[in-house]
Amino acid sequence: MNKNVKISKRLLKCAKMVTSKGNIADVGTDHAYLPIYLALTNKISHAIACDIHKEPLNNAKSNVKLFNLENAVEVRQSDGLKNISSSEADTVVIAGMGGNLIAKILKDCKWENKKDKEFIFQPMKYENNLRVYLSKMGYEIKKEIAVKCSGKVYTVIKANYTAQPYELTPTQVYIGFLPDHLNDDAKCYIRKQLNDLYNRIKGAIAKGLKDQEAYYLKIIKKLKKLL
Ligand SMILES: C[S@@+](CC[C@H](N)C(=O)[O-])C[C@H]1O[C@@H](n2cnc3c(N)ncnc32)[C@H](O)[C@@H]1O
Repeated sequence: MNKNVKISKRLLKCAKMVTSKGNIADVGTDHAYLPIYLALTNKISHAIACDIHKEPLNNAKSNVKLFNLENAVEVRQSDGLKNISSSEADTVVIAGMGGNLIAKILKDCKWENKKDKEFIFQPMKYENNLRVYLSKMGYEIKKEIAVKCSGKVYTVIKANYTAQPYELTPTQVYIGFLPDHLNDDAKCYIRKQLNDLYNRIKGAIAKGLKDQEAYYLKIIKKLKKLL
């Protein structure tokens, strides 16, 4: 690696969502590329790069050392946010995991003052479940972007905790809060979600579930109109 760590387009989109210039906690950091990139580009003052497993922590430590960033990036073992106190981070990034695991990490987080934090989530799958969890638990989704990377398409979600639960529309469950002007990546994400819905319809038809079939068809019609 040279002085400019090369991160994936997916992680770059996560990095672009970070606005605080403050302290971040990168949960499930693995190689610590994201906090290293953020520190090298002066987007943060400090990071805790945490992971539950020893091997990723060792990788993270070596990479942090390689860039002489030991003062800016602390590598720490933690299951989710359990070993991080709320005063240590104003931005929490949880990227590269399934939406259900991200929701579990949030559920297990006992921080009292979550309202002044910025949350950035990048689920690899089950993002619908994550959106539903966020809405029910009072995390307001402020922004969402789609990103194509290595032949797949993902979503990056920025949220704040307001403690006010809200109801998502069926379309929002599927495509979240993409900007009105859809770029190629966003259109690709909608197509991926359409494929998922077609599969669900097949399942509903096979089971003779007419209501479900009609429900999915309604969402499909709305998504198709966006393309
Ligand atoms: C696929 S890597 C993602 C790395 C990086 N965040 C990215 O997006 O490229 C997922 C990482 O999450 C870690 N992980 C899984 N469950 C975790 C948990 N409960 N708490 C912290 N880290 C966890 C794994 O050990 C693994 O290193």
